[in-house]
Amino acid sequence: MKVMVIGRGGREHSIIQKLAESEGVTKIYAAPGNAGVEAERVEIAETEQDQLVAFAKEKEVDLTIVGPENPLLDGLVDRFREAGLRVFGPNQKAALIEGSKHFAKKLMADYNIPTADYAAFTDVEEAKAYIREKGAPIVVKADGLAAGKGVVVAQTLEEALESAEDMLVNGQFGEASREIVVEEFLAGKEFSLMAFVNGRSVYPMTSARDHKRAFEGDRGPNTGGMGAFAPVPDLSADDYHFAVESILQPTADAMVEEGRPFTGILYAGLILTKEGPKVIEFNARFGDPETQVVLPLIENPLEQVFTDVLDGRDPYIRWKEAACAGVVVASKGYPGSYEKGKPVPVISTAETFTVHAGTETSAEGYVSSGGRVLLVGSQAENLTTALENVYEHLQQFDGNKNFYYRRDIGLSSITSTMSPNRK
Ligand code: AMP
Ligand code: GLY
Repeated sequence: MKVMVIGRGGREHSIIQKLAESEGVTKIYAAPGNAGVEAERVEIAETEQDQLVAFAKEKEVDLTIVGPENPLLDGLVDRFREAGLRVFGPNQKAALIEGSKHFAKKLMADYNIPTADYAAFTDVEEAKAYIREKGAPIVVKADGLAAGKGVVVAQTLEEALESAEDMLVNGQFGEASREIVVEEFLAGKEFSLMAFVNGRSVYPMTSARDHKRAFEGDRGPNTGGMGAFAPVPDLSADDYHFAVESILQPTADAMVEEGRPFTGILYAGLILTKEGPKVIEFNARFGDPETQVVLPLIENPLEQVFTDVLDGRDPYIRWKEAACAGVVVASKGYPGSYEKGKPVPVISTAETFTVHAGTETSAEGYVSSGGRVLLVGSQAENLTTALENVYEHLQQFDGNKNFYYRRDIGLSSITSTMSPNRK
């Protein structure tokens, strides 16, 4: 089977690594990929739909996997399907579950899927009146895609009012913040649950946890994700099953009912509240960096899972009895401004693996080309050992003034499983 993976980040490299393990995969193209990919790189951007379709036809690509959300929302999957090409991912109508927070919230309200109470606004005075009525803490979200920056968890009324003003009046996120969602603040630990979905058929993956803030102790600005681990040890079997049966399944069913059947990866960002798991957000694709720690735990060939799901067969997915952890090495300054072109040491060990995100090759070896540069991961019999392996390996970056990483990925979950109070 010849496959093509569209995208250039860590998520896409991780998908490629898994596919490259399969004997059934004879050729992998990455459009455009990054310096780490075990694939032939194709110089076509995610936005160049005609060229991507033409390339897939010319090379007789059997299966294309679309990684990032933007091309999904731009209708790339629709274009591939119209051309008779096999592609894994939601069409434009189904990708709206990520592309519009208002759409996702209304879907959840209409189908009794547990989530924070909300209201949506285009008028700033109405939004402000609602915010004053509800009080802080309160959460203000741009309706559309804002590269992970469109959510403000406001601790004070002033901050919430200001965010509403910035988004609706000052056009902070352009078209994406022409409408906003204002929602109830939920407290609890977060986790991510992804599933392979085709219409009403839902095949869940193992749970994972991302760490979105830049610095230790969940401080500092939001990032694309600074590390992750899977499975989540402090998630009970009951809560996992609730998330599958009462969140993912009814969401897939609701999308069918709405005439937007979803095919692809449905990602639920969830929070464990006192009333049980609730939805923070849906994504229409693999999570980044969750994918980098979830896919290594699948034992059987990934391309077979994709094709089974696409063809309406129940896929065989066998999970390893293991844990996987990954820590992101980022450019100093990220998620603010940072310098590129810095030499990146990449040394593999038997205990760890490396997933590239923002790297390019130069005459001197790998150099950085993005904020998140790479992820060092490890699979082991338990989370503690996986993290020990990762952190030992990361010592090579200590004293390197160009990069930083968080030293507490997974730590609170190790302690919480040791706590006698665990559920
Ligand atoms: P998102 O960009 O939707 O992933 O949101 C970023 C982060 O904001 C989430 O991971 C949560 O930590 C936080 N967040 C979003 N919505 C809420 C909410 N209703 N209550 C508390 N925290 C939230
Ligand atoms: N890890 C969060 C996301 O992929 O959106």
